[in-house]
Amino acid sequence: MPPLKLNDIQQAEPSVGSTQRVRQVERIVNGIESTDGDGVQLTRVIGSHELSMLDPFLLFDAFESNEAQDYIGGFPSHPHRGFETVTYLLAGRMRHKDSEGREGVIEPGGVQWMTAGRGIIHSEMPEQENGLLHGFQLWVNLPASDKMTAPAYQEFSADKVTLERHDNGTEIRIIAGKTNIGATGPVKNSYVNPLYMDVSLPAGQVFEQAVDYDDNTFIYVIDGELTVGKQAEIIKKHQLAVMSTGNLVHFHANENTRFMFASAQPLKEPVARGGPFVMNTKEEIAQAFIDFRRV
Ligand code: FE2
Repeated sequence: MPPLKLNDIQQAEPSVGSTQRVRQVERIVNGIESTDGDGVQLTRVIGSHELSMLDPFLLFDAFESNEAQDYIGGFPSHPHRGFETVTYLLAGRMRHKDSEGREGVIEPGGVQWMTAGRGIIHSEMPEQENGLLHGFQLWVNLPASDKMTAPAYQEFSADKVTLERHDNGTEIRIIAGKTNIGATGPVKNSYVNPLYMDVSLPAGQVFEQAVDYDDNTFIYVIDGELTVGKQAEIIKKHQLAVMSTGNLVHFHANENTRFMFASAQPLKEPVARGGPFVMNTKEEIAQAFIDFRRV
């Protein structure tokens, strides 16, 4: 879809009314260098001992390498049950193939939001032998009532991801949710009503976004540096900031900055994890291992 042409909405100060609470930085996470799949080097920012989850976000992996040996092994055939995987690429190409014959390539700026539901077996392999591969995989939990739903895909190429451009140079690529001025991402999700955006903010500019008060919200800085909140806390490149509760986020770019912004309603349910399965009880995890041993 064509980019929305919007007027400059930059505001010098947070538009804090009597009922608004601006979120502060609650915690900075640096992530853990990890290996997953067949030798893929990545930084696990959510889903490690540093930050095991941020309900409903179960995992957030960042991968960025020019070196084929860091990614070429990819993620050969493996199952998932009980949650959603969201793959968003900034550079490079990944081929996705599942046990039901579905196949496609995620390209730069494209996103795949896969609802694993009761189960899918898939592979995620780099569709390149050299060059930069750069992107993220986010895991979003499903509520107990929908963990065994039928698998489903929402896939959008870069030109279908909503692009909001402001006159001050800000660019917001909206995967899910709605910006303050009404641009809406293509992914639909009523389980946790997520916001998921890729924001490019020129030096000196401000980004403001309304969020539900009790949503869990994080920012991951891809490049540059942000200042946040009254304490003027700084979030540096490759850091993730977990935000406090509140109904407004307000970030100031200290330099040209690009960041991922995610927010969603917590499920507040028990979480039982077993490798590629995330259910509510240990018994359900044991059942998933049995079910996938048979296929
Ligand atoms: Fe996977």
